[in-house]
Amino acid sequence: MYGMVNQAVEALVTERFGEDTWRRVQARAGIADPLFVTMKQYPDAVTYQLVGAISAETGASVADLLHAFGVYWVEYAQRGPWGKVMMAAGRNARELLGALDAMHARIALSFPELKPPSFRTVPHPEGLLLEYHSERPGLTNFVVGLVQGVGRMYGEHVTAEPVTTREGGAAFDTFLVRFHGPLAEAGKA
Ligand code: HEM
Repeated sequence: MYGMVNQAVEALVTERFGEDTWRRVQARAGIADPLFVTMKQYPDAVTYQLVGAISAETGASVADLLHAFGVYWVEYAQRGPWGKVMMAAGRNARELLGALDAMHARIALSFPELKPPSFRTVPHPEGLLLEYHSERPGLTNFVVGLVQGVGRMYGEHVTAEPVTTREGGAAFDTFLVRFHGPLAEAGKA
């Protein structure tokens, strides 16, 4: 994945656990180069090793870390140069979730080697079903966090509940996304 993703992981760890923890994570993950380059493609293994090392260093589960990283990624991306592209893709969480492929396609103009996931939304009486197609395994909880983060960006309380998962033998992950209305308090979802 592009260095931007690993930089966001670094920002999350240094903000929540401090720079010493980040240094131990880097050592444990076997990362010799101290700086990630935003626009360089790194092997996916680097990101997966980082998450495993953070779990080992902090005691947080990989599932919880991926969820937290999903929420954080939206905040991080929003303050970065592509934040406007993301915001412009929808006027609310439901619209953005329906436009994720178009949004990643816009982003791919700047990241030519992007290997984005693909999402499809299907109407559902309780909200919508979100299909998540990816060549990468193990990111179900990341998507749960991302959906929550998208909601938070619009001041909405939005949840995603996995309905089918590849881990459970399905061809792709599906989430039931529910829209619970405005967030009660800023920063709480
Ligand atoms: C400005 C906003 C965003 C930017 C710049 C961005 C960019 C990226 C980048 C660089 C990657 C790594 C893929 C690669 O390097 O080949 C990625 C992966 C991913 N993105 Fe986005 N993204 C944004 C917003 C979102 C949102 C809002 C969602 C979903 C709600 C999302 C879902 C994902 C997922 C699930 C992956 C993991 C890769 C996979 O599943 O195969 N992204 N994105």
